[in-house]
Amino acid sequence: MNYTRMVIEKEAPEEYGYDRIRFNLSESSIADQKLSDIGLSLPDLTLFYGEHRGDKQLRALISAQDAGISPDDVLVTAGAAGALFIISTSLLSANDHLVVIRPNYATNIETPRAIGCAISFVDLAFEEGFAIDVERVKAAIRPDTKLISVTCPHNPTGTMMSRAELDALVALAESSDCHLLVDETYRDLSYGRRLPTAASLSPKAISGSSLSKAFGLSEAAV
Ligand SMILES: Cc1ncc(COP(=O)(O)O)c(C=O)c1O
Repeated sequence: MNYTRMVIEKEAPEEYGYDRIRFNLSESSIADQKLSDIGLSLPDLTLFYGEHRGDKQLRALISAQDAGISPDDVLVTAGAAGALFIISTSLLSANDHLVVIRPNYATNIETPRAIGCAISFVDLAFEEGFAIDVERVKAAIRPDTKLISVTCPHNPTGTMMSRAELDALVALAESSDCHLLVDETYRDLSYGRRLPTAASLSPKAISGSSLSKAFGLSEAAV
């Protein structure tokens, strides 16, 4: 694969320098914290090679949040970005096509691009309230489509899909014999009622989530 440095990497405040930014209007994480600020101290932890797919107890706790998921469905990674990389590189090859509902998180575009995939974009529009037109997604599906990719709660607009839209995307992935990736990194910051995690709705659906945003901890689960 050929890697190019994404704009988001060059522009990330930690790269650019927080001290050079006067007004940070779009920070997606919480401010830096010390453990002592939140009343914690580091216990005498044992450092060791952990279980490859993540601690069993942790996977059980994650899967217990939604009916229809078992600990074996969960993979723990360091950050959602790593999980999204694993999803693209394990599902896609250079001959494959994917449909990306855009705006989407940069990794969900640049990793398939680096693999050499053909990508069709379905762009969300301000004038339509950034709503997803499932018929347009359907029209973009090809016989070689392996993945439909969307973020919800949406970054950067914060909009939520309805349950009916999520169900329609799941049904579309099933009938097209491709996977649906729902990047749910902001799920714990949902406005209103949380949607079920997409992975609980179908074997064809994959959810990516993270503690980086709502909790300020970069450890993620798929
Ligand atoms: C939609 C979305 N997905 C994934 C990520 C990456 O999350 P993490 O920091 O846990 O790797 C981000 C970070 O900005 C994001 O906004």
